Amino acid sequence: MQQIVRIAPSILSADFARLGDEVQKVSEAGADLIHVDVMDGHFVPNITIGPSVISAIRPLTKIPFDVHLMITPADPYIEAFASAGADIITIHQEATTNVKQSIDRIRALEKKVGISIKPETSEELIKPYIEHIDLILVMTVNPGFGGQSFMDSQLSKISKVRNMIDDSGHNIDLEVDGGIDQKTAVKAVKAGADILVAGSATFKDTKYKQNIASLRSAAVRAQQNLQ
Ligand code: DX5
Ligand code: ZN
Repeated sequence: MQQIVRIAPSILSADFARLGDEVQKVSEAGADLIHVDVMDGHFVPNITIGPSVISAIRPLTKIPFDVHLMITPADPYIEAFASAGADIITIHQEATTNVKQSIDRIRALEKKVGISIKPETSEELIKPYIEHIDLILVMTVNPGFGGQSFMDSQLSKISKVRNMIDDSGHNIDLEVDGGIDQKTAVKAVKAGADILVAGSATFKDTKYKQNIASLRSAAVRAQQNLQ
């Protein structure tokens, strides 16, 4: 069942010179989760941050850290991200040769497990793992950079994943990441999303509270129209 929509600001669009301050500010402004984009310059053509930065900012807020690993291999680093304070660890289906093994590693560390798929990847590849995961992250841009445009072509995939989750009877979050703004939030929520990642839309100016509230109200209206 689709949950009440949560907003996850991606700190990729924050001011890195003041990262701790930014994390505190978006938390106070109403963020439900802190989305952390980890990139390795190999799985994606960009390099961002690693576990030491996460452990430095982790004490600054109580809200969960939603860590999106865009790295390959992922398994050798899972323990470091767990120790750094990740609450949800999401790996990419395309980035691991043994998805079940990665899931088990995350589970053994008592963290929530997410699987993400890139725009060209079929949702069918997640089906075998559905009983073992807590979150599915559907990318609506090609991973690597903030500020890209939402790919409408992914809406039917979001709906299929929604059905897959509902049919499974498991409690799994459906997160959508890439190009979320007030308009695309409505589309994503209508298709079944219950977590919206928002980098540029949160950090476009310093009115974080207003920016998060605008996304949330667009999402809630979309959700109510469904009922
Ligand atoms: C892209 C990242 C996204 C990105 C979102 O690879 O996974 O989380 O930062 O940024 P916006 O909201 O600007 O598309
Ligand atoms: Zn992300």
